[in-house]
Amino acid sequence: MENKPIGVFDSGIGGLTVLKEIMEVLPNEDIVYFGDTARVPYGPRSKETVTKYTFQCINFLLTKNIKAIVIACNTATARSLKLAQEKYDVPIIGVVEAGAKTAVNVTKNKRVGVIGTEGTINSKAYETEIGKIDSNINTIGKPCPLFVPIVEEGWADTDISYMAASRYLNDLKDKNIDALVLGCTHYPLLMNTISKVMGSSVTLVNPARETAKDLKNVLMKENLLRDQNDNPKYEYYVSDGPDKFKQIGENFLKKEIDNINLVEIHK
Ligand code: SIN
Repeated sequence: MENKPIGVFDSGIGGLTVLKEIMEVLPNEDIVYFGDTARVPYGPRSKETVTKYTFQCINFLLTKNIKAIVIACNTATARSLKLAQEKYDVPIIGVVEAGAKTAVNVTKNKRVGVIGTEGTINSKAYETEIGKIDSNINTIGKPCPLFVPIVEEGWADTDISYMAASRYLNDLKDKNIDALVLGCTHYPLLMNTISKVMGSSVTLVNPARETAKDLKNVLMKENLLRDQNDNPKYEYYVSDGPDKFKQIGENFLKKEIDNINLVEIHK
């Protein structure tokens, strides 16, 4: 059982920021990644649609005989994690709890900003999770809908991303926050730009590392951790544009993506 792969999915390429951390924290695991590039972004879609897509992604990963699932997409986690955990027997974790925990550890003045898609911010998922850990923390959310298409277009860290970030983040700069959660898997790819705009007094929180550690804990608890593997296998599936995914993905992962497949998922 522990030799089965882990399944990871996202609405597109952003989930590679989580995948990269999982590869580092769990170097013995085989991984199957699915990016729903045909239907990205999930951010502006209704809870019902995001839940339908989430279940379809999970159903697809289950055909790959996986032992656990990571919902690397913040929007899908915020909208559908609980429903997915109720529906499926396999262990499923998301990214919001991990991001909330990290933000609580980082903030000194108890003022935390969260940026994400409209879906994530409107769901108040981060606010709720942060409030569960420390109810004295003030959480201020701000949707940044253009960030996802900018990253998917391969325009991270360009003048275009800088202009969009300045516009979105200007009012957060007046809110005296000392931590800012990158509450969308795509946003760590804009880390340099966001940090340039926010300045050095604000610590950027990337939920990905803590998510990988949460996954390790779940695997250990369920006796699913693989402790030896000389040749870990990474399989990639996308619902559109494998060439573009490969190009942006290899650049980000600094690893060859040699096993990429185009699939249709509608079940
Ligand atoms: C999106 O699909 O809109 C962004 C993914 C995320 O929320 O992490």
